[in-house]
Amino acid sequence: MTAALDRNAADAFIAANTAPGHHPLVPEIGLSLASAITPIWHASEESLAAKGVEPPFWAFAWPGGTALARFLLDHPEQVRDKDVFDVAAGSAIAAIAAALSGAARVRAADIDALACAAMDRNADLNGAAIEVIGGDPLAAPPPAAGVILAGDVFYDRDMAARIEPWLRSASAQGAEVLVADPGRAYLPEEGLVEIARYAVPTVLDLEDREVRETVIYRLGR
Ligand SMILES: C[S@@+](CC[C@H](N)C(=O)[O-])C[C@H]1O[C@@H](n2cnc3c(N)ncnc32)[C@H](O)[C@@H]1O
Repeated sequence: MTAALDRNAADAFIAANTAPGHHPLVPEIGLSLASAITPIWHASEESLAAKGVEPPFWAFAWPGGTALARFLLDHPEQVRDKDVFDVAAGSAIAAIAAALSGAARVRAADIDALACAAMDRNADLNGAAIEVIGGDPLAAPPPAAGVILAGDVFYDRDMAARIEPWLRSASAQGAEVLVADPGRAYLPEEGLVEIARYAVPTVLDLEDREVRETVIYRLGR
């Protein structure tokens, strides 16, 4: 839907389907989240598809982005004064953490127009300066950036096949690429160096367990 959705309709959809909240691991950052009291929580993927709405990945803080946010807030030197690009940013939790940690510039990209509206809203909620970028960032070479954030991007075979070479190319071009993964099936096996790990509380309806051990990796050059 979201290509045809105007900005006011997107904001109204987000307001109607989320409530302000935060992830317990990252209480510093407020987000518009789906919860058991919001209608989107109860909507099936099929019923959303019938209305032309993508699954609302932007309405949850996924373990990857959440762990990245915790890591950056605890280690602001990783992004301070740097140019940061969060790819497939979802709610923008990691991008917001980068902005709050003193990054010089933060861009957050997501293919879903509702995610882009949610990211703007979430950035405002936290007083974080973020440039939100719509469209498909993987259709072009990686942008010049000091740090690329990739939280929970290996959840699907097609996405993994597209984003892995893109991230490797970003790394080859000199970016520090930080990947956060909670044990997804399509995580690459090569070139990842663990730098931190977190036990991330999860939403049982989304994951099959209450905590996901999530690892932050640096993608080697
Ligand atoms: C599992 S969510 C992770 C969101 C966020 N990084 C986090 O960890 O909370 C995956 C996100 O990837 C986005 N996405 C999928 N394909 C994409 C593409 N080609 N370019 C940008 N974003 C994409 C989806 O819209 C969704 O928001």
